[in-house]
Amino acid sequence: MSTAPAFNLKNPCPATMKHAVKLSKEGSPKDTRHFEIDLRGSGMTFEPGDSLAVLPTNCPDLVQDVLNTQGWMGDESVEDLGKKPVSLREALISSCNLATPDKKFLHAIVQKTGNAPELAKLLEPERKEQLEAHLHGRELIDFLHDHPDAKFEPQEFVSLCKKLLIRLYSISSSLKANPDSVHLTVATVRYHTFGRDRKGVASTFLAERVKLNETIIPTFIKEGKGFRLPAADDATPVIFCGPGTGIAPFRSFLQERDATKAKGKAWLFFGEVSSKTDFFYEEEFNDYLKKGVLTNLTTAFSRDQAEKIYVQHRITEHAAELWQWLEEGAIFYICGDASRMAVDVDKALHAVVETAGGKTPEEAAEYIEQLRKDKRYRRDVY
Ligand SMILES: Cc1cc2nc3c(=O)[nH]c(=O)nc-3n(C[C@H](O)[C@H](O)[C@H](O)COP(=O)(O)OP(=O)(O)OC[C@H]3O[C@@H](n4cnc5c(N)ncnc54)[C@H](O)[C@@H]3O)c2cc1C
Ligand SMILES: NC(=O)c1ccc[n+]([C@@H]2O[C@H](COP(=O)([O-])OP(=O)(O)OC[C@H]3O[C@@H](n4cnc5c(N)ncnc54)[C@H](OP(=O)(O)O)[C@@H]3O)[C@@H](O)[C@H]2O)c1
Repeated sequence: MSTAPAFNLKNPCPATMKHAVKLSKEGSPKDTRHFEIDLRGSGMTFEPGDSLAVLPTNCPDLVQDVLNTQGWMGDESVEDLGKKPVSLREALISSCNLATPDKKFLHAIVQKTGNAPELAKLLEPERKEQLEAHLHGRELIDFLHDHPDAKFEPQEFVSLCKKLLIRLYSISSSLKANPDSVHLTVATVRYHTFGRDRKGVASTFLAERVKLNETIIPTFIKEGKGFRLPAADDATPVIFCGPGTGIAPFRSFLQERDATKAKGKAWLFFGEVSSKTDFFYEEEFNDYLKKGVLTNLTTAFSRDQAEKIYVQHRITEHAAELWQWLEEGAIFYICGDASRMAVDVDKALHAVVETAGGKTPEEAAEYIEQLRKDKRYRRDVY
């Protein structure tokens, strides 16, 4: 049992980064990193399939930019969004969501300037879609720059902000293999929109702002309800599909299965952009193959050839064997990108059942639905 209730949003565990390495090698378009966070003395435990909630802080440069637009020093006294008396700078760093402006904030900008007819128009109820499109890639700072005559009182500004939220990360280690730490596999989010370099709050907090051996990461465990392995003595085959950072819970599962000498076959599908730069944890997975912890390891490197090859292409290529595993009662697990990958993998699973299982599209849909009902199709997608 994990001790999830001991720490929570109101009572996070202050954790220490003890090891951080870049998994993406030189030449990769990605910046995916491996983090090891110290758990010693915390009493915090978890199960494979759980996630770690991380409460980040904002980038000080972005906060300075906000302060500059308003002519503030940062040492003004305010109450943060938890009603704690702090300096304005501290409230902007630790309490305020500076990334996603909402209608309340935009209305306040319109009201303050008295001269923002285009923004006012976008706020009309019938222009919801246009507003959404306008907000894509824009943060609070953009509106402060675009409307320099919108001036706020420090407390007024803080109170207008939404709260800075936690981010979840699938845990990529098992306590049986690494009893003193929790590992994460995190893609650093950086992009450029409307003339500014942007930073994902939590992923750059971990990659850039947390220093080794500093105890500054507020964390707690979020239980991965249903995203669990069968018991070690259960011979049910398991199929893991985890491209990109979707690999995280499966590294945890494999460590656990290795430590518990789990029965049953295991098949891992992993995909990334290139085998040379982004085959995360390659040696570990090859060792698991040698030891028999993994039965099959199937990779899809999307940019190693002219045409894109994704995990779902590998799934359909291996339809006959995959169908056989499903018929033996295998559990299919998927983790990673929800909007495109998980949708396409779902289609590929239907295709496997149709082609290798000889079923009509309707029968295949029923088969997959039954997998879901039997908890043999488990998803942790984001
Ligand atoms: C259960 C669960 C498990 C997860 N596990 C992992 C994991 O193991 N590893 C991992 O890396 N992530 C994982 N995530 C995702 C993670 O929680 C964060 O969402 C991710 O790290 C981004 O957070 P951030 O604070 O860095 O970025 P944010 O500050 O939240 O910024 C991300 C947002 O920026 C915007 N954005 C991004 N790119 C662009 C662009 N090009 N143009 C315009 N806007 C853009 C989008 O609105 C996007 O939602 C998981 C999520 C869940 C729910
Ligand atoms: N919503 C989006 O547009 C979007 C885009 C990228 C990432 N993300 C998010 O960014 C985070 C980190 O991403 P990540 O680094 O873990 O990995 P990722 O960007 O999902 O990439 C991992 C691998 O999946 C491939 N891929 C792209 N589209 C796919 C599809 N439809 N089906 C199967 N595979 C596909 C990528 O190939 P190619 O890159 O070569 O196509 C890459 O080889 C996640 O939270 C993810 O949801 C979202």
